Amino acid sequence: MRELITLHVNGESHEVAVLPHHTLLEVLREDLGLIGTKHGCELGECGACTVLLNDKPVLSCLLLPIEVQGQRITTIEGLEHNGTLHPLQETFAELGAAQCGYCTPGILLSGAALLREHPHPTREQAKEGLSGNLCRCTGYTKIYEAVELAAQRMGHSKEGNNL
Ligand code: FES
Ligand code: FES
Repeated sequence: MRELITLHVNGESHEVAVLPHHTLLEVLREDLGLIGTKHGCELGECGACTVLLNDKPVLSCLLLPIEVQGQRITTIEGLEHNGTLHPLQETFAELGAAQCGYCTPGILLSGAALLREHPHPTREQAKEGLSGNLCRCTGYTKIYEAVELAAQRMGHSKEGNNL
């Protein structure tokens, strides 16, 4: 039997009738059509299903929707702002930090949270911040470089905008 709950996703409230055993990952993809969040191991080990909960990375395969009612969920579809890509999305594309792309939504969200916490991360901080997200393709170097370039650009734009 389904249960009616309200989820706040990407700035919008959604009333959704969920099956009690379905994870947040399943509800985001199957009930809300937000298929940018990826199914991976479903065991909490790969990070492909990462979303932000109140701006912090969480594994949606390990959460039940009822646990996150009333909290702010951000999926990859919500990372752009008013039609403008997040700087990380631009630098990943420019530097080839995404290859097959399966890990990319989760890494971008973990990266956005990392840059919020450490606006100019060291390489060690970048490794630590992305340590829960596995990538089988890139060898990670391009990913770290893309994070560092985005940090530089965000720093410049903040100084330029006096924010
Ligand atoms: S699918 Fe959630 S951690 Fe792998
Ligand atoms: S780009 Fe293929 S798994 Fe990361």
